[in-house]
Amino acid sequence: MCGIVGYSGKTGSLNVLLEGLHKLEYRGYDSAGVALSYPDGIRVAKAQGRLSALEEKLAGMHLPDSGCGIGHTRWATHGAPSDVNSHPHSAARVSLVHNGIIENYAELREYLVRKGYEFCSETDSEVLVKLMDHNYQGDPLDAMRRTLAQVRGSYGLAILFRDRPGVIYGARKDSPLIVGCGEGENFLASDIPALLRHTRTYIALEEGDMVELKPDGIRLFDRLGQPVERPRMEAQWEMEAAEKGGYPHFMLKEIHEQQAALQATIGPRIKNGLPDLSECGLTDEYLKGLTGIHIVGCGTAMHAGMVGRTAIEKMARLPAFTQIASEFRYSDPILHPGDLVVIISQSGETLDTLAALKLAREKGAKTLAVVNVVGSSIARAADWTLYTHAGPEIAVASTKAYSVQLAVMYLLALRLALARGALDEHEVGYLTEQLQKAPALQQPLLKNCDQIQYLASQFMNSTDLFFMGRGFDYSLSLEGSLKLKEISYVHSEAYAAGELKHGTISLVTEGTPVIALATQDDVFEKTLSNVKEVKTRGARVILLCKEEAVVPEGAADYVVRLPRLESVFMPLLMIVPLQLFAYYMSVLRGCDVDKPRNLAKSVTVE
Ligand code: F6R
Repeated sequence: MCGIVGYSGKTGSLNVLLEGLHKLEYRGYDSAGVALSYPDGIRVAKAQGRLSALEEKLAGMHLPDSGCGIGHTRWATHGAPSDVNSHPHSAARVSLVHNGIIENYAELREYLVRKGYEFCSETDSEVLVKLMDHNYQGDPLDAMRRTLAQVRGSYGLAILFRDRPGVIYGARKDSPLIVGCGEGENFLASDIPALLRHTRTYIALEEGDMVELKPDGIRLFDRLGQPVERPRMEAQWEMEAAEKGGYPHFMLKEIHEQQAALQATIGPRIKNGLPDLSECGLTDEYLKGLTGIHIVGCGTAMHAGMVGRTAIEKMARLPAFTQIASEFRYSDPILHPGDLVVIISQSGETLDTLAALKLAREKGAKTLAVVNVVGSSIARAADWTLYTHAGPEIAVASTKAYSVQLAVMYLLALRLALARGALDEHEVGYLTEQLQKAPALQQPLLKNCDQIQYLASQFMNSTDLFFMGRGFDYSLSLEGSLKLKEISYVHSEAYAAGELKHGTISLVTEGTPVIALATQDDVFEKTLSNVKEVKTRGARVILLCKEEAVVPEGAADYVVRLPRLESVFMPLLMIVPLQLFAYYMSVLRGCDVDKPRNLAKSVTVE
């Protein structure tokens, strides 16, 4: 949700900024812009549209070389995508880029108009820059401190002051911002991939922190302007992980990376054949005393939570609940002292999810974060964190991050089952073995692209589609449907298979596409009956089931068979054809697979 870069260093800042923006384009792609710092002032270029539009504009501007600048790629909130609403925004003595929302911008704008300021955009960010200018009396940090004390809302900021050439300033609150530490050069960025070409060493700014960056120095301050030290971290991600590596799209690459990501997430957490989560401090004694688990997240992370809930209830016999973060935070949730709140997030920065975590803590609950990005806000705010090891996920549609979230939820469910005595060591050992088999069993499914591509070609002109399944398969239906809608713009709905006849089956007529998921042995026959119900009404059915499933002749139009694995872990296999189906539908329909319209990867607004 908006990407920010900043560079204070040697020469060639424009290249560094554009390269960084390319790496962050997944965070927003409505418009982009840069501001470069020179001894005689600041020059700005910005353009609506993809980064290429900005690059074209810059090619015609022949800006002189500069060693310092800031850049932005935008996901519009206040004000439609347009040149004038693009960042950077400027006042006489300040230019800045902003990620976040200033909630009290209307009243601040009125105040500034009374002071004689004129506004050319509809954005809240322009209010911020004019206020910064108004408060500037020669000390940038003082102006920042005073300005940020006046605003309500969230911000990640990179700022240039006209009379401070070569220096960039940054600040953050409820929006991610990291400092990249180089040799004779330093960086600001919303996310790690923008830094990897230059440095692996970074500092994750804390809430309210401000920073001053020069080529040879980094100074950090807390919200009161007091100097502070923050730990330096080393990014573990390889630079190549943020490149397409020969694949036509990041999404396809990331689908193929799932196997390795699963191995990296599961492998190190198996000790003596049993799941071991002691790395984060969770003890069996604590798990044993739990009275309930609340799982909270958004979108795909929420869908992973649903699988986790079913796994926990099935294996550990502990009541588990799921709630969407944006609902949880305003629902005055009932949390008991013995409840654990599990927060799932790839980015670790989703605003609603972070707010849900904070609320849970305020209510006295313990929190466990399942997060992909090391040092992210959610990881730092939780009592315990279990990292998923997906590496950077660049495509807006989440794929490998989902699989590894499932893996961690399974590990948690198994450890809970053991700690609580719901399953004995032998049973947990067997299930752990099954879980460990899942990554390799994804391989034939990845190789089976042709069948899925063919199915997509048969359904590419559909306008509406149904997914249905029971239990785990229902959760997977939701995820398959989300993926399809998100990147191919085909409307679809996911139904618990038994629920369709309570109304929606009236929409099923001759040729209606239905994707039926039936991997759960205990309800296979039931789901098959539901498939019959839609088939009788003319539906064109793709059935996904286990390889050994007995499917009566003519029960479905197409059958996709998945390798044999314990039913409880079938989501780890089922997800592959669902992701591939969405992917090929998107490609065949000519959509922008990695950057679907209106979306951004990391949602740092409500
Ligand atoms: C869909 C997708 C989103 C995210 C959601 C939460 O493909 O990626 O639904 O899952 O925005 O994001 P994180 O996991 O970063 O909190």
